[in-house]
Amino acid sequence: MSILDLEVIKKFALTCNDGYEQGWHEGNGGNLSYRMTAEEVEACKPYFTYDRPWVDLGVQADNLKNEYFMVTGTGKFFQNVKRDPAANMCILEINDAGDGYRIVWGLVNGGGPTSEFPTHFMNHSVRVAATDGACRVIYHAHPVNIIALTFILPLTSEAFSRVLWESMTECPIVFPNGVGVVEWMIPGGAEIAHKTCELQKKYDAIVWAHHGLFVSGNTFDAAFGLMHTIEKSAEIYCKVLSTGRPIAQTIPDEGLINAATAYGKKLNAELLK
Ligand code: 13P
Ligand code: ZN
Repeated sequence: MSILDLEVIKKFALTCNDGYEQGWHEGNGGNLSYRMTAEEVEACKPYFTYDRPWVDLGVQADNLKNEYFMVTGTGKFFQNVKRDPAANMCILEINDAGDGYRIVWGLVNGGGPTSEFPTHFMNHSVRVAATDGACRVIYHAHPVNIIALTFILPLTSEAFSRVLWESMTECPIVFPNGVGVVEWMIPGGAEIAHKTCELQKKYDAIVWAHHGLFVSGNTFDAAFGLMHTIEKSAEIYCKVLSTGRPIAQTIPDEGLINAATAYGKKLNAELLK
């Protein structure tokens, strides 16, 4: 038995691989984090070591004190996580104050967690509070079509939510709250973390202009499915535009609202005004 045989490690690595196969992770692009359950931490503990130093996070969250996260390594390639999890991902323990971490497993050849960990950490904090602890996954990727749209649409939730909802019937059902949008910023810092966090209070998915997409989910499948649905809708819209023909018809506003209602969801119709 090895830690690599545990389902949660396999699922983490498989999710990285699935994203890579979609073409969302050039080089070291993108990052994934997962807040572990108490049972998963217990199962992994025999493999933990406590000799690496505590590192200051630069952000703080009371509701994440003493939690454990599985996280991709900074500069590591998504396609390599499944091939060699111990070298490309790690497990972090958060300290008693909720403002620092230490690596207790993984990154055996050195390195640290993703440079976007401050954003992941703050997003986890907001989503844990918003979902009563159900949300466990934060996923960042660089999908081509959603990035392309940030060159031509106004950088507003209204503009992006409308286009994405109208481009595929599943969309008002899968993300009825719409998507948030952050203007271009330097990645990896506290400023983009705080801005993304503000939007995470309202939206499960945040577009980063000229950069990519951040999504949250209760499970790996839910987060991956949200990323996939948004990117597919963006691809359809890009393909429609690339025909050069005017749009003859789309889903009417009433249809968007009713599609969500039919599946027990409530569309954030404010965004349609
Ligand atoms: P990391 O290699 O630090 O995870 O950065 C990749 C990325 O996508 C930055 O936004
Ligand atoms: Zn990125």
